[in-house]
Amino acid sequence: MSKLTQSPAWQALATHHQQMQSVHMRELFAKDAGRFDSFNLKFEDILLDYSKNRITAETMKLLRALATQADLSGWTAKMFAGEKINTTEGRAVLHVALRNRSNRPIIVDGQDVMPAVNAVLKHMREFSDAVRGGSWLGYTGKKITDIVNIGIGGSDLGPVMVTEALKPYSKRDLKVHFVSNVDGTHIAETLRTLNAETTLFLVASKTFTTQETMTNAQSARAWFLKSAGDEKHIAKHFAALSTNEPAVKKFGIDPANMFEFWDWVGGRYSLWSAIGLPIALAIGMDNFEELLAGAHAMDEHFRTAPLEQNLPATLALIGVWYNDFFNAQTLAILPYDQYLHRFAAYFQQGDMESNGKYVTKDGQTIADYQTGPIVWGEPGTNGQHAFYQLIHQGTKLIPCDFIAPAQSQNPISDHHPILLSNYFAQTEALMKGKTADEVRAELTKEGKTGAALEALIPHKVFQGNKPTNSILFKKLTPRTLGSLIALYEHKIFTQGVIWNINSFDQWGVELGKQLAKAILPELGGDAKVTTHDASTNGLINYYKAQR
Ligand code: F6P
Repeated sequence: MSKLTQSPAWQALATHHQQMQSVHMRELFAKDAGRFDSFNLKFEDILLDYSKNRITAETMKLLRALATQADLSGWTAKMFAGEKINTTEGRAVLHVALRNRSNRPIIVDGQDVMPAVNAVLKHMREFSDAVRGGSWLGYTGKKITDIVNIGIGGSDLGPVMVTEALKPYSKRDLKVHFVSNVDGTHIAETLRTLNAETTLFLVASKTFTTQETMTNAQSARAWFLKSAGDEKHIAKHFAALSTNEPAVKKFGIDPANMFEFWDWVGGRYSLWSAIGLPIALAIGMDNFEELLAGAHAMDEHFRTAPLEQNLPATLALIGVWYNDFFNAQTLAILPYDQYLHRFAAYFQQGDMESNGKYVTKDGQTIADYQTGPIVWGEPGTNGQHAFYQLIHQGTKLIPCDFIAPAQSQNPISDHHPILLSNYFAQTEALMKGKTADEVRAELTKEGKTGAALEALIPHKVFQGNKPTNSILFKKLTPRTLGSLIALYEHKIFTQGVIWNINSFDQWGVELGKQLAKAILPELGGDAKVTTHDASTNGLINYYKAQR
């Protein structure tokens, strides 16, 4: 057994779980009219209602003891102080420095990182103002109308999610496109309608070695040069967002158009860095800084608020409760806001690349508890007509986060009340369910009787007791979005601390990359491939026969 599962806090939770397993939330609500008051937290205009969970005050007390036992506050202090808590890569973890609007010095290797952070922000402001204001001109003297961000994973998902989420704040006549997939279709379809004279490419890659991004960037360069002819024009049409200056130079991008960041920024935590340039271009630097300010405010809350009032820690502990004691496998993130349609996809990487680990910080294989959940989700109400059936009546326990703004950016007739009536109804239905007696009464009222009525009852019963968090905020502004993202980031961090894993490396993505490199040269020529297992050989040879 692992140290964690043998620990007093874990054992206490395991015992408590035995009692809680059979408790229905319906009873908890019936017994306590003040349950909402006891189990909600506020941060600025963000409300977190966590009362519709299979918890009591005792559960929360025991979960908080687990966080204390794991020394959450110690690890948090280490992260904010720039200690190298990403030990397998020997790196600090300082996305919080990128949005440190207080400018408090943060020291890495004896140096305050804040002057460099501020210098890049200044560069981003100058560049985005020039492009947005129309003074940055393409090689034929025309204004830029289209930005194409070329990046993948953390160099794509964050900017995609945020530019979609903050579309109402964007300059609508400056279109931002994203190319990530190495499938040639992605870049081909993106460039189809674009004009090289008015297109600006951002090559976004922390390492500037990622195969997909470099392949797409080379194709973009070739496409551009087909129109522009002379390589000297690249300076006005290509910028790089990267930590790797030599590789940027080698690609031929003017160092003046390079926006730097540092190895202490994890890819999936990089939207706050130069990787956020497409966001700044879309919504302007003032709004980008509002996004940073919202995240910073959440950072300060996370760093200083006691566990009882701490939103990220509370979300994290509830997640651990289901993941490790109820053996839930997944977490559904369900935003009732079309602008947040990439939010779940973004945190799929954020969470799964961070906490998808079976080895502890000290190298032990984890055999007796679960780490990161499978994260998935789609906006409501679309999901209701697709996969909610399984959440309501399937055999799996699926904890859900329901997220919604009180005010719509598009208050057309009664769309928003209709949307929110569904948002409220779903968590109520998931919590309460519908009993056999209630179903019987309903069917009787409809005129059903006898065997037909009895046969239908089990199909129409909802067990309920399905846990949900509700996150409700005033309006999806840059500041609120910044806070929301930081809320989930720190939730992931907290869970990583409890599970005793390094949330900031991602060695699990390497093996596939290595094998693909070995396979690529084998795909040329007609020779039969025999170097792999029978299945892989068979697939490659079938491909070669069909291409
Ligand atoms: O392969 C995974 C990964 O390393 C992610 O962690 C990262 O966000 C993505 O690839 C892109 O990396 P880069 O920004 O270096 O191109």
